[in-house]
Amino acid sequence: MSISQRPISQKHFISLEDYSPDEVQEILSVSCDLKAKLKKGEQHNVLAGKSVIMLFQKPSNRTRVSFEIGIQQLGAYPIVLRPSEIQMGQREEISDIAKVFSRYGDGVMMRVIRHTDILEFAEHSEVPIINGLSDLYHPCQAVSDLQTIAEHKLSPNGGSLKGLRICYIGDGNNVCNSLILMAARSGMDITVCCPTGYEPSLRVKGAPYTVDHDPRSAVSEADVVYTDVWTSMGQEEENLNRLRAFEGFTVSVDLMEQARKDAIFMHCLPAHRGEEVDNAILESKYSVVFDQAENRLHAQKAVMASSNGITTCLR
Ligand code: CP
Ligand code: NVA
Repeated sequence: MSISQRPISQKHFISLEDYSPDEVQEILSVSCDLKAKLKKGEQHNVLAGKSVIMLFQKPSNRTRVSFEIGIQQLGAYPIVLRPSEIQMGQREEISDIAKVFSRYGDGVMMRVIRHTDILEFAEHSEVPIINGLSDLYHPCQAVSDLQTIAEHKLSPNGGSLKGLRICYIGDGNNVCNSLILMAARSGMDITVCCPTGYEPSLRVKGAPYTVDHDPRSAVSEADVVYTDVWTSMGQEEENLNRLRAFEGFTVSVDLMEQARKDAIFMHCLPAHRGEEVDNAILESKYSVVFDQAENRLHAQKAVMASSNGITTCLR
């Protein structure tokens, strides 16, 4: 594993579908290495002189702040654009923006409303694109989650995540889709527990998952219990219907006790306390949600900083 300053591939980081198990493992290794370097106060400004443009069509706390700080820690310059500034597809065609930004920056991180927009942008971009959340995927979250699971479930001497059981309870949304892909790439089993009609849209060969509609049976034997909001950004009009549909799917202390004794609780945050998860769980011994949030910083730096030609914001 190495953190290289060589200009390498132009590979986008849009979905883990495009990444092999070895490549996902490589990002994890680089992330762990960068985290250790930061904790030891070692310089790692491998993107010195570069610029990364960040484009947000939706609100964000973790993604915005962890990317901006991470880019600076790598020695690069972050530029943030909000929806009112960029007006993608309104003031200007997506393809033109992509071509113009390719002349200025060395990489573009995008949080978009429609996944098809990020694909269109990437088609016209000459610099790597990183998906900071779309309606279909949240791959940056998934690699941070992988690091968090590894930290909590592997011994300091290593080991394997193969066969570990994740139970995702809630909406089969963007976070869930990327979690399914992450589980497949790292050999973990995943069960999605949701009300009928809220199953994941993902159907990828080699990324299997089981669907269960009963929370108690779904969590039994789980090493990891994961949830996300029932109403994602942009679905606010469906909120009341969703509250009704997801009744009984809250992760409570009682439900968590049905999982394995040493199970951990995960949530990408922000959480709607009292809806998908009880307050007591977020603050409990099971909860690793703030480790997940921290690992966004390290994992995204790994995605940007390069590793043996996998992905980089270097041209
Ligand atoms: N988990 C996550 O992406 O958080 P933000 O929406 O605050 O960026
Ligand atoms: N599913 C949520 C994730 C937020 C990080 C959403 O898309 O709003």
